[in-house]
Amino acid sequence: MKAFSGHPALRGMPAIWLRDSCPCSECRDPHSGQRLFSITDLSASVAVDSVTVTGDMVEVVFGPDMHRAVFDAGWLARSAADCSAAPDERTETAKRLWTARQIAPDLPEGNWPRYLINAAHREDCLHALLTDGFVLLRDVPAEPGTVLAVAGSMGFVRETNYGRLFDVRVEVTPDNLAFTGLSIAPHTDNPYRDPVPTVQLLHCLASAADGGESVLVDGFLAATRLRAEDPAGFDLLAGTPVTFAYSDADADLRATRPMIGIDPLGRIREIRFNNRSLLPVRLPPAQMAGFYAAYRAFAELISRPDLMLTFRLSPGDCVVFDNSRILHARTAFAAAGQRHLQGCYADLDGVISTLSVLRRERLSAGSAIPAWKRRPDS
Ligand code: OGA
Ligand code: ZN
Ligand code: ZN
Repeated sequence: MKAFSGHPALRGMPAIWLRDSCPCSECRDPHSGQRLFSITDLSASVAVDSVTVTGDMVEVVFGPDMHRAVFDAGWLARSAADCSAAPDERTETAKRLWTARQIAPDLPEGNWPRYLINAAHREDCLHALLTDGFVLLRDVPAEPGTVLAVAGSMGFVRETNYGRLFDVRVEVTPDNLAFTGLSIAPHTDNPYRDPVPTVQLLHCLASAADGGESVLVDGFLAATRLRAEDPAGFDLLAGTPVTFAYSDADADLRATRPMIGIDPLGRIREIRFNNRSLLPVRLPPAQMAGFYAAYRAFAELISRPDLMLTFRLSPGDCVVFDNSRILHARTAFAAAGQRHLQGCYADLDGVISTLSVLRRERLSAGSAIPAWKRRPDS
């Protein structure tokens, strides 16, 4: 039987992979495409018994149960050719990293009325959010609550203890420094949640007469610089869990994660950075100085002027950003003024799905082929 697994049409793919990939209606639900068996239902001694090639079709019979699978030859060839690690749109490799000077001349901007009626513009805006890490939408009516419509058009609003949306304006007894006129250093929001909200929206209803400017920093770029300039410091931030916490009368939240989250292949995937909500670091005393040096080095990188993109939100502007990558900040403003933003949270999985559906509809308008049968490369 072994001889058949070397059949050129199988492109070197092992019997267990072929058997697990069988597209027949006993193996996959014809409507949803979902697999009907589990790995333990397959024989551990699965082997290729015979291979028959007819045109573009490759028929494989497997032992020991003589199950028959029919594969598309082109699909087998493409699968075998692409044996690199699964791409992950959330990691640094899928992003366009930027410095302020690189992004400023060509800000990823959208226009809300156009976004609503034009699918291609929606695609461009969502693509910018996923690759550049943010999109600045203009002409979003400066009416309270509209930020929820923006979030809902991209994905799903993430409700939190702050509600479905929150107001950012000066309060008399602020539970959060956001609700003062103080400047706020670059940070990611809500690192004390797990899962963290991965998309944040800030919609300007009224701006300050003076100050209150917005700042965005590409945290992935800052982390790649730390990795290049201070690899040991990068490893410390990626390898040390720290706890972020938030507490008020109704909530007591905490999450313990590293400041730089990497995936199993070492790719940068998530930044959590917030001086306001970091609890005292817990480490053996001998390791504390090293950790603090790395923390300081990262903070200094984040605050370098060449990384800080500064702009002013005017009423009707809504900035939408990847809160797992982009740090945001604001400059101080007069607490007596009228500055008022409304914000809310959402998540990247929903945004990625919305963009994927838009692309699918464009590529195969009117097609009845179920999504799981369509191949991204066709
Ligand atoms: C916030 C925040 C920024 C601003 O509320 O999370 O960072 O511009 N606000 O007020
Ligand atoms: Zn099958
Ligand atoms: Zn914030």
